[in-house]
Amino acid sequence: MINDLWYKNAVIYCLSVASYMDANGDGIGDFEGLMRRLDYLQGMGVTAIWLMPFQPSPCRDDGYDVADYYGVDPRYGTLGDFVEFAQGCKQRGLRVLIDLVVNHTSNEHPWFQEARRDPQSKYRDWYVWSKKKPKGADSGVVFPGVQKSTWDYDAVAKAYYFHRFYDFQPDLNTSNPEVQAEILKIMGFWLQLGVSGFRMDAVPFVIAQKGARIAKPQEQYDMLRTFSQFLTWREGDAIILGEANVLPGTDMQYFGGSGDRMQMMFNFDVNQHLFFALASSDSRSLVKAIQATRRRPATAQWGQFLRNHDELDLGRLTDKQREIVFAAFGPDPEMQLYNRGIRRRLAPMLQGDRRRLELAYSLMMTLPGTPVIRYGDEIGMGDNLELPERNCARTPMQWSTEPNAGFTKSHKTCVPIISDGPYGFPHTNVAAQRRDPTSLLNWMERIIRMRKEIPEIGWGDFSFILTGTPNVLAIRYHWRNNSVLCVHNLGAEPREVRLKLAADDEAGCELVNLLSDEHSQPEKGSAHRVLLEAYGYRWYRVCGLDYLLKRSTI
Ligand code: NOJ
Ligand code: CA
Repeated sequence: MINDLWYKNAVIYCLSVASYMDANGDGIGDFEGLMRRLDYLQGMGVTAIWLMPFQPSPCRDDGYDVADYYGVDPRYGTLGDFVEFAQGCKQRGLRVLIDLVVNHTSNEHPWFQEARRDPQSKYRDWYVWSKKKPKGADSGVVFPGVQKSTWDYDAVAKAYYFHRFYDFQPDLNTSNPEVQAEILKIMGFWLQLGVSGFRMDAVPFVIAQKGARIAKPQEQYDMLRTFSQFLTWREGDAIILGEANVLPGTDMQYFGGSGDRMQMMFNFDVNQHLFFALASSDSRSLVKAIQATRRRPATAQWGQFLRNHDELDLGRLTDKQREIVFAAFGPDPEMQLYNRGIRRRLAPMLQGDRRRLELAYSLMMTLPGTPVIRYGDEIGMGDNLELPERNCARTPMQWSTEPNAGFTKSHKTCVPIISDGPYGFPHTNVAAQRRDPTSLLNWMERIIRMRKEIPEIGWGDFSFILTGTPNVLAIRYHWRNNSVLCVHNLGAEPREVRLKLAADDEAGCELVNLLSDEHSQPEKGSAHRVLLEAYGYRWYRVCGLDYLLKRSTI
């Protein structure tokens, strides 16, 4: 296969314009501010930026309640500013992905306003209505404890409307061909302005049948092919990165057997088991999750991540496993959310322990797929549990020790900046870490550089190497006669492991350490003895005879 699929070896960085950098001093981040930070992002080595929603919105769900798909919220700038930003990215070789939130609109969207006012309006059928409150309306809520029902009465429409998420987010009737055509139009619009694709919000709900009489909604997978075909016709290298927290058994339906549906999906299954592995020091269930999600079309790719802007959803773990993760990373009820997850940022979950942070990142970056990094995690930012629900982990970026973390010149900010304690901006900020060669930020830059130099991970096949202990995970990648071995000790104790390379012709193979000078020579046969410190990790290139022969002739 040719190497054109840029997303197979990308490093994606997710940020929200509102909380990244404020240029005009009104306390809200904006495109102009973000533009000033593009060199920072490029310097760190990320290759694509995923922007969370920035379209006009009442912002009752951080922009996931869109009131106009074809604009920029005036708080963040103008369409002109967006185009400048897109150009700034292009100049630096950075790709742009944007959130595409089309399962629902804001209830303030003119479509919904017209739909509720006028039963004859064409927009009436763009939403999902029922004269009576349907049976089961109070089950299937996505935000238990905050959201009571999926059907609410609208006094103007004199009918109930369906909303999978909050009551101010009426679901679009995505089966309606006009709605589908509009979704394509929205994609076409942003493609024209320079984006390379979309992080599609809530995909299983977008493609589910909706309606009062539908007891068991079926997924309409064909819709995904329509989206993907459209992208290809308009812009050959544009992609959809789907947010679909589904069982591994249905992954291939989302990718499409021949890779004709979504190009990328977040790997939620691996994500949950990764946190279980970190909490329990036991890699076995993570290995199972990696195996279960192994199958994917050659052109498809997983997005691997640690934390995102939502809660860490642990709904797939067994009750016992979930308890272990809660106990380790979110013991207080205020750290937990929706009876299924943890709402904290990564660094406080890992008690700011540098060894564990590196382990978590090293592991995530060497899992089969493309890494997705959340803004602020590169400097180990913390959370503010006083903020409601998921907002605790969405505080402004901490740039420096200047007032308001260098995020804004205003005294007021949209969301409070973390200023106290070890994660407060006086201690945790970009400027300080930039100057410190041993900082997490500089580590991150180096690890990203190395990750980009290992296309085997994004492109290749993998196998697990036996380590003799569930504490240590060893995964090996092969691609085009190259091979890389990544070893992680999840345990709090140092461990020596014996790693046996499988093939006969690998006797005598050296393991060349990609992150330090400590290479490994095999013992008799092809086994290596590797001593890992607590939470230690190693990235090796497996250098066979072929390589050694070549090297001796250089
Ligand atoms: C998933 C998004 O990640 C989340 O933040 C949002 O609240 C829901 N979809 C609804 O759009
Ligand atoms: Ca501003």
